[in-house]
Amino acid sequence: MTAHDTKIMDLNRFDPSAPSDRLGERLKRMLARRFATFGGNSILFYKRPVEMVSAKGAWMFDAEGKKYLDLYNNVPCVGHGNERVAEALFRQALTLNTNTRYLYDNIHTYAERLLATCPAPLSNVVFTCSGSESNDLALQIVRAATGGSGFIVTENAYHGNTSAVHELSPSSCKGRRPPPHVRLVPPPESHRSGDGDPAGTLASNMERAIEDFKKNNIKFAGALLDSIFASDGILGGPAGLLKPALDVIHRHGGLLIIDEVQPGFGRAGKGHWNFARHGIVPDLVTMGKPMGNGFPIGGVATRPDLLEKFNRETAYFNTFGGSTLAAAAGLAVLDELEAERMIENADRQGEYLMGRLRELARTHTRIGDVRGAGLFIGVEFSKPGTREPDRESVTRLVNDLKEQGVLIGASGPFANVMRVRPPLCLSRDDADYFIGKLKTALEGMAPG
Ligand SMILES: Cc1ncc(COP(=O)(O)O)c(C=O)c1O
Repeated sequence: MTAHDTKIMDLNRFDPSAPSDRLGERLKRMLARRFATFGGNSILFYKRPVEMVSAKGAWMFDAEGKKYLDLYNNVPCVGHGNERVAEALFRQALTLNTNTRYLYDNIHTYAERLLATCPAPLSNVVFTCSGSESNDLALQIVRAATGGSGFIVTENAYHGNTSAVHELSPSSCKGRRPPPHVRLVPPPESHRSGDGDPAGTLASNMERAIEDFKKNNIKFAGALLDSIFASDGILGGPAGLLKPALDVIHRHGGLLIIDEVQPGFGRAGKGHWNFARHGIVPDLVTMGKPMGNGFPIGGVATRPDLLEKFNRETAYFNTFGGSTLAAAAGLAVLDELEAERMIENADRQGEYLMGRLRELARTHTRIGDVRGAGLFIGVEFSKPGTREPDRESVTRLVNDLKEQGVLIGASGPFANVMRVRPPLCLSRDDADYFIGKLKTALEGMAPG
């Protein structure tokens, strides 16, 4: 298996052609309705898909009344069914729901609160409805500012689904080579490669990619990097990981867009933004997923000079981006993170979980590496005694754990990294529940 056999949308995917005896009549009927309306290739999770009916906090409940600890979904960051968010949306929907072409107080309060979490000089924000739209807009701002078109991304990056962003998402381009204006660099991986200086390697790979643009008469615009390299296998990396790469980008006149769609809003602990762990201030930061705890909001925070140039050339309007409803949800999320001290909780529970996972790694040699930041943890599985990716164990564990009441995902170019990414309200008891189930599932596997 090569890395390119594994595409992000195929990870842990239901195979409709597999034998279906265990599905049961209700599930078979649901599947028939699904494929009749969404088309035969629509993507579902798990060998035996699950029909969800409700969720609260870190738990989800299926149609058979079974409960699942959610270690997968990063959107409900302050918890499923959060009352503060739901009430804020309800009240706002009854009061006013309109767009940014009118003046209204709550969007400006939200913009001020959000920007107060960002370091100077990131003092302007544009609102969108999704992470994809945020990245798409960031690309447009960078093109306008630099006059360039050449972008660098990592080899297994995923940044979204608009046509421009799709071209910068090699993990979702099945078998297709990147277009001429895109260069791929290896992510700063050190477990498999044994690289002792992933920061230096990333910077020299950037330098090489920029030289290649020059050779091909393509003007360098910038790089788009997920600060935790979620689809490249969750590479928390040592503090400072991104600094040398940023210096190279700036030296060549490019701009750095940091994609915080996955790790942002406190998931990585120690503050709202994971890029801060690396001691950098990017030129643009893109946001989405957890921003509205399920209500679709995204945004781009940037410097006023970059936005001004873009706004002079382009009239950007987003009907739902920055609506009064979006602002209400966004404000409630910031309030909840603060009131319930959820970022501290991400640090506390993340450290505890990583410790317990490392304990398991001592007896279960398939676990090759445990890494991450806060409540964004990657557990890399390797063939025992080697660093060869072990995809089979992760596929099996993801499905076994789901049967045992734990939702978890896979990541990385070889799908051999277990992705632990729960709501930030995860408790110590929840963490122990997961470790207990994982231990049982590992013990049920052949020795390794
Ligand atoms: C790192 C990253 N950026 C951007 C996106 C796109 O976000 P959305 O699906 O909300 O458009 C995703 C989605 O998974 C993502 O993981």
